[in-house]
Amino acid sequence: MNKKATIISFEGPEGSGKTTVIEAVRKYFKKRRLNAAIFREPGSTAIGEEIRQVILNTSHQKMDVYTELLLYLACRTQLIREKIQPLLSKKGFIILDRFTDSTIVYQGLAGGLPAKWVMKAVKEFSLGITPDMTFLLDVDERLGLRRSRRKDRMEQKSLSFHRKVRQGYLKLARTFPGRIKVIEDKEINRVIKSVLNHLEQKCLR
Ligand code: TMP
Repeated sequence: MNKKATIISFEGPEGSGKTTVIEAVRKYFKKRRLNAAIFREPGSTAIGEEIRQVILNTSHQKMDVYTELLLYLACRTQLIREKIQPLLSKKGFIILDRFTDSTIVYQGLAGGLPAKWVMKAVKEFSLGITPDMTFLLDVDERLGLRRSRRKDRMEQKSLSFHRKVRQGYLKLARTFPGRIKVIEDKEINRVIKSVLNHLEQKCLR
């Protein structure tokens, strides 16, 4: 298949400002009359949103990291088949609020499953889809957690887990410098400006 769409993922630890930044990106694309479909993970399909409730439910403290992995992968495969694949042959942008890197970091590098093995599983279940560009919104884990008020099951994990998440992301960014653009922790309007500048330079010329 001839892929025409550009896939852009947004990643980051808790409280990194992804939602606000993605909303600004949505407005920016709209203003420029560019097609952009936005999906969040886990979620964005009826099945995925139900699985999201199960994964993030604070009463599921017994959830094993393998169960977590399988549920996140199930959400992703459903999203790809149902929503992403039909868009690939059309010109436009597919914006993903979290994608494959989240699984490598949260279930692998921080969650303790062997990272190489998780990478293989992630690759299989992403059905050949990789982002063309990824923004990593970096934030100090303490500051990020302070920003998120009502804590879901993932946010309730220990500070050391969230420190590993941040370190894991930075490690991935060093491994894939061509794809992952790190936006350093700063005031949100400056983060938005940096993201839009980078998009303008790399995708919109
Ligand atoms: P959100 O808070 O950004 O909506 O993301 C939901 C949570 O799920 C967040 O804590 C990160 C976590 N997550 C994983 O652990 N693995 C994954 O593969 C994905 C997509 C998200």
